[in-house]
Amino acid sequence: MDSLANSLAARDIAHLVHPQTNLQLHLEQGPAIVDHASGVWIYDDEGNSFLDSVSGLWCAPLGYAPERLARAAYDQMRKLSFAHLYRHNSHEPAIELAEKLLSIAPKSMSKVHFQSTGSEANDVAIKLVWYYFNALGRPEKRKIISRHGAYHGSSVAAVSLTGKPDMHAQFNLPLDGFLHVACPHYFRDRRGGESEHAYATRLADDLEALIVEQDPDTVAAFFAEPVMGAGGAILPPEGYFEKVQGVLRKYDILFVADEVITGFGRTGKMWGCERFSIQPDLMSCAKALSAGALPISALLMSEKIYQAMLLQSERTGQFAHGHTFAGHPACAAVALETLKIYEEMDLLAHIARLSSCFADMLEGICSHPLVGDLAMTGLIAGIELVKDKGSGELFPAGMNVGVKVAEASRRHGLLHRYAGNRIAFAPAYIISQDEIGEIGVRLRKSLDEVHAELCGK
Ligand SMILES: Cc1ncc(COP(=O)(O)O)c(C=O)c1O
Repeated sequence: MDSLANSLAARDIAHLVHPQTNLQLHLEQGPAIVDHASGVWIYDDEGNSFLDSVSGLWCAPLGYAPERLARAAYDQMRKLSFAHLYRHNSHEPAIELAEKLLSIAPKSMSKVHFQSTGSEANDVAIKLVWYYFNALGRPEKRKIISRHGAYHGSSVAAVSLTGKPDMHAQFNLPLDGFLHVACPHYFRDRRGGESEHAYATRLADDLEALIVEQDPDTVAAFFAEPVMGAGGAILPPEGYFEKVQGVLRKYDILFVADEVITGFGRTGKMWGCERFSIQPDLMSCAKALSAGALPISALLMSEKIYQAMLLQSERTGQFAHGHTFAGHPACAAVALETLKIYEEMDLLAHIARLSSCFADMLEGICSHPLVGDLAMTGLIAGIELVKDKGSGELFPAGMNVGVKVAEASRRHGLLHRYAGNRIAFAPAYIISQDEIGEIGVRLRKSLDEVHAELCGK
């Protein structure tokens, strides 16, 4: 047994800087240390167990410790533990994975470029948007629009897309030329009796007004997550993406779909783009690509983007971009095995079955006085916590009721995500119906506790 001074917690505090963490608070309260995990259950170093209803960071749809993925990594590492793709070098796992991805991707996608993380995939997408318009001799077309509340990553360019002010503050970000339009949050931002369609039209009109004000010849691309995950699983209002794409086409602006969370069945379709009628020019994916077992991401592109890259690489001597671990053989082998497992489980039919059980559980929760709204598709859902269920009155911004529910849930052995006054769920695809029921039981207890605390009942 470690002495207190030499405990894992003390060593963590002494040596480790955590991402997305209040560093002062961390010094005072220390870390929550995970010891091991299996299926949808996580076990800490004090023997507590937690039902994970959000697949880690939306990334472990086959649950924890999947034997086949461990074996795929091991076998590949024994055969070829490293190989890069620079300067015409290649290897079978990367070739096979690119082929497989294109076989399940939207038809307009023509080529694949690998990286390790979602942020990198979005960074590359930004570079390719610029590369493309430079190839067309339109270097002034370079501004990029995304949405407030969006999450596209943490690296310098990807976080400039991200619409979270706390991730820009004191970092001298966002970079110039990154603009943000409204978050499409119908429940929170609709006006009076405005319908979803009218709300979507208003947002598309606002987007068009911004483009015109900026000068359409300077606007290059629009980035969007089909479902805004880190924003709290916010679904687009009816007709939103159709209207937005109408505006983008009018001004020759590219659409980049960030499928880092929504890819591989999460929304009930293979891609969020298919679920919401999006025709992307570029599409990033990660996370479920390798079921979270090893880091790998991919950027898929249409033929017109690829043709521009060909031209540019001819002009400059090469496509002068790359990452050491892009398409790493072990990561690619694990991703291939992951896609094989999805195929064997008849992914979309399987998710449709689970989704109906998930919906039953969440609809049951909707009767709770703290729950004002439920948004869900496939196996991703967000719940809006409200002060007054009757009127739909929201809790004041910054009250972070979601944190209170997350803390109560943790005490009841349930993990989910929170964002402001929303809580979000994205369970693993291997979750059982009983475990979905258990999410409901634990969540209701947590909501009851927070309701009693806030409303004195
Ligand atoms: C939609 C979306 N895009 C990009 C990212 C960034 O991915 P990564 O953390 O792998 O860089 C995330 C991470 O959660 C995400 O949710």
